[in-house]
Amino acid sequence: MKHKLLMMAFACVLLIPSGAAKDRKEYFPKKDLTLVGAYYYPEHWDESQWERDLKKMAEMGFEFTHFAEFAWAQLEPEQGRYEFGWLDRAIALAAKYNLKVVLCTSTATPPVWLTRSHPEILIKNENGTTVDHGARQHASFSSTFYREYSMKMIAELGKRYGNDKRVIGWQLDNEPGVRQDYNTDALNRFRSFLKRKYNNDISALNKAWGAAFWSQVYASFEQITFPLPANWGQNPHQLLDWKRFSAYEAASFMDEQADVLRKYTNPDQWITSNYIPNYADGHFGQSKKLDFNTYTRYMVYGDPGIEELGFRIGDPMRIPFANDFTRPIDGIYGVMELQPGQVNWGTRNSLPYPGAVRLWLWSVFAGGSDLTCTYRFRQPLFGDEQFHQGIISTDGVTPSRGGLEFEKFINEIALLRKNYDPGSALPADYTNRKVGILYTHENVWSMEKRKLNNTWDTERHIQKYYKALKRFGAPVDVIYEGKDFSNYPVLIAPAYEMVDDSLITAWTDYVKNGGHLVLSVRSGWKDRMSHLFEAPIADKIAPLIGAGYDFHDFVPANQSGNVEMNGKKYAWNNWSEGLIPLNETEVWATHADQFYKGTPTVTHRKLGKGTVTYIGTETESGELEADVLKRIYAFSNTSLMDFPEGVWMEYRDGFGIAVNYSSKNYPFPLPAGAKILIGTKEIEPAGVLVWKVK
Ligand code: GAL
Repeated sequence: MKHKLLMMAFACVLLIPSGAAKDRKEYFPKKDLTLVGAYYYPEHWDESQWERDLKKMAEMGFEFTHFAEFAWAQLEPEQGRYEFGWLDRAIALAAKYNLKVVLCTSTATPPVWLTRSHPEILIKNENGTTVDHGARQHASFSSTFYREYSMKMIAELGKRYGNDKRVIGWQLDNEPGVRQDYNTDALNRFRSFLKRKYNNDISALNKAWGAAFWSQVYASFEQITFPLPANWGQNPHQLLDWKRFSAYEAASFMDEQADVLRKYTNPDQWITSNYIPNYADGHFGQSKKLDFNTYTRYMVYGDPGIEELGFRIGDPMRIPFANDFTRPIDGIYGVMELQPGQVNWGTRNSLPYPGAVRLWLWSVFAGGSDLTCTYRFRQPLFGDEQFHQGIISTDGVTPSRGGLEFEKFINEIALLRKNYDPGSALPADYTNRKVGILYTHENVWSMEKRKLNNTWDTERHIQKYYKALKRFGAPVDVIYEGKDFSNYPVLIAPAYEMVDDSLITAWTDYVKNGGHLVLSVRSGWKDRMSHLFEAPIADKIAPLIGAGYDFHDFVPANQSGNVEMNGKKYAWNNWSEGLIPLNETEVWATHADQFYKGTPTVTHRKLGKGTVTYIGTETESGELEADVLKRIYAFSNTSLMDFPEGVWMEYRDGFGIAVNYSSKNYPFPLPAGAKILIGTKEIEPAGVLVWKVK
């Protein structure tokens, strides 16, 4: 465990027997299945209302609340003068109604005394303008003062509440994201980051940045600036390092906070943060000192979703992908903010479809989460988030439509708790379908910088594989390198552009030991600094895939090319490659037209006990990708589901959960012996079916 040593040290200091240090999994007893909570901002309401509100929260079944997220000004009204009395009273009231408390570090809202005495903490934009006090997230993670003052405040919070049994955990900051800052502190830290990376050797940096190109050669680190706007063609390698630096700034600020808190918190309290799942930003999941990660999720805000009702139900893949990305990081995850109703910031803030809020709750639960919290309990009467619905409406007492759906879900979880059997296993036909999708944001950065085709979209490419897997009813882990690939019968590395020898060795070992590896377009073209190798394109992976690269091609947006597999044609537009198979490599699909008709584009080979499949075409419908995956599953006689778009299913803790994001009823093919606990076999739009595994 990451924090075992630290925990043991504290256990001694606090005179807790050393065996009492908790395993991280014990934060959330399995029998509880999931906890549901709601954000509450005592500082927004007259104190005379707190008790009424918290009592109502508890009566609706919520089990935890969440305080002090944006309250630095109330916690430290003047530099060094802390006021915790209000928070003590709010925590006492929560405890009175058996609500556990999650505390927040409030760093997203530095108070005015700090921004006025140290205006240099305010983020400077690329165009030289500086943000001012009055909103939130206005300070730079690279600012020395900001970090220093934040840590002082966090230490005081830790001292006050780190041993408070009523407090179960901590959320650091609010949606910490990559915020590029152009201040001097940021520049100095960027230079230090590069000095560390290149061992103070400017010639090593020049080489990595390809600085010989267009006369960019640097004589010292002091000459380096941020990649500022250019007339034409920013240095892609410099951009890569700068993005690495920016992600590191966000991740390291959380780590620094966690280190400070942990000096004072007892091992029962967990530490997390609430991330917007912007996977490609590169910081989410990269803070090493958190106990687990949580994400925030809004579903109806102007996104069309699918079909007629999609704008009220949301994109069916939005929650499961976030689940499958977040869970593998630490094995535990939760959702810290889940939309309770209409929001106010979307492009079109439609009413969620009746049942949609509950559908999202079940969608989060289906992925194996331990907690879900909603933003927020009461709809605010002032500030920038007026018209953002809460669990309780503007009168302060009436539950909103979404509030009632939360209440319903909480009651349904109570029913599941009664049916929970600790000995239950996941069905084998489900676990046999398990797939790992190998991901790194760095590949996204590299390919998005040089798309080669303006319709190239790395995330969409990955989603084509992901959607096919969810249609098959496959459990998926989205993983970074470093995880044990052997946990996955099938491992897909879509568009894995940047590689090195150790990754290729890991892939090769995985396959030789029986894994089925799938690589797709653009894979293996570049090294980790986004340089091409001095070799034929994709030569690095040729021995592994058993094929060489011949060409890549695009057709205009209004035309299609076709490839053919087993007599079936698949249209493509965005990307297709021609391959040269080596030795006994099988050709699964070839080009059906263009001047290179007949050229292979999907190849397959055996290697040791496993196989490697290379998919050199991205089809418009994703059908080729799905059909290739079906062929791979067929090797192990794995049965697959075939859900229509919008329907998906997962198992956890002895329960099956199926959800319907489509606009049509779906008669779910329930497994034999399944006992329905919630819903009916015919799942309505925004409906949910939950059954107990036999
Ligand atoms: C989130 C944010 C919350 C709140 C919410 C409104 O992105 O973390 O603090 O602003 O949006 O929907």
